[in-house]
Amino acid sequence: MLHRIEEINSKAIEELDGIEQFKKLEDWRVTYLGRKGALTQILRGLSSLPLEERREVGAAANELKVLLEERFSQKQEALKEAELARRIEQEKLDVTLPGRPTPLGRLHPTTQIMRQMCDIFISMGFEIIEGPEVEWDYYNFEALNIPKYHPARDMWATLWIDYEAPSGERPMLLRTHTSPMQIRLMEQRQPPLRVLMPGKVYRYEATDATHESMFYQLEGLAVDRDITFAELKGTLYEFARRLFGAERKVRFRCDYFPFVEPGVEMAIDCFSCQGAGCRVCSGKGWLEILGAGMVHPDVFRHVNYDPEAYTGFAFGLGLERIPMLKYGIDDIRLFYGNDLRFLSQF
Ligand code: FA5
Repeated sequence: MLHRIEEINSKAIEELDGIEQFKKLEDWRVTYLGRKGALTQILRGLSSLPLEERREVGAAANELKVLLEERFSQKQEALKEAELARRIEQEKLDVTLPGRPTPLGRLHPTTQIMRQMCDIFISMGFEIIEGPEVEWDYYNFEALNIPKYHPARDMWATLWIDYEAPSGERPMLLRTHTSPMQIRLMEQRQPPLRVLMPGKVYRYEATDATHESMFYQLEGLAVDRDITFAELKGTLYEFARRLFGAERKVRFRCDYFPFVEPGVEMAIDCFSCQGAGCRVCSGKGWLEILGAGMVHPDVFRHVNYDPEAYTGFAFGLGLERIPMLKYGIDDIRLFYGNDLRFLSQF
């Protein structure tokens, strides 16, 4: 029997050494120390042994039981420690790592530049109004002195709305410029006026690096008694100086728009080549940024203003071209392509 106890001892200890999981440890406990375990069986059978042998075997079995229980507890502790160490390793937090930056939203570059430009005009006494992007032929063309079949309509490739009026005409369109807002404003209000009208416009155009089919314009209109061309020039000079800096040169040249007389285009000397001529300005040295002029007397007649009593100036500026020049952006399509790599630079 003592021999059997010795056998259990060496086998149990050997097995215990190889155990690395709680589940296996529990199986081990049941095998050797459980109610039906090897050692318990021996202790139960003690009563059937002769007295001398009973003492000896009993003492040895009890000694082994104490030993195995002790080794069991030690192993249990060791496994717990190993498990804790593993979790600490796995879930460790490196407090020296730099924090992950939270992505911040920002205003679209178009919105930023629009606000900047509006602020300049607001400081000169202009107010801001907005109007519809779906427009009537009357406001977009006719009241702006561009009657039906007038060749000047070809200056604006138009997207027409599929709506047929009772007369059979299709008089609705997506506005091709912000100038129809001049008419809407003058129909509602009397001079003096100093108003800015920003918004989206649409053209039926193939897009390329400098042309979009949807872009923004900023329209300006000032009407009062005795407004002169000098005031138009002064206002736009001041605007260019404040937006681009005093060192930029500004150039006015004659241009034709049916709703102004005289009409001009305003250009600034190229940022990229300082007027010498380069790819950005197509070798011209100048970049056109807006059309402008003195309001045509026929436009005043359409809104029942007396052209003998009032004069005024108007201008219309293509918004995207400004940040393109300022930041050297070489493709207008980047603005509305929704590529965050582009947008998050502003
Ligand atoms: C006009 O639209 C006139 N309504 C401007 C005006 C207003 C003149 C008041 C006189 C008095 P134009 O078609 O040239 O003019 O457009 C004005 C500006 O819009 C251009 O100088 C240019 O900067 C911009 N622009 C024109 N077409 C496009 C396009 N396809 N994509 C991006 N910008 C454009």
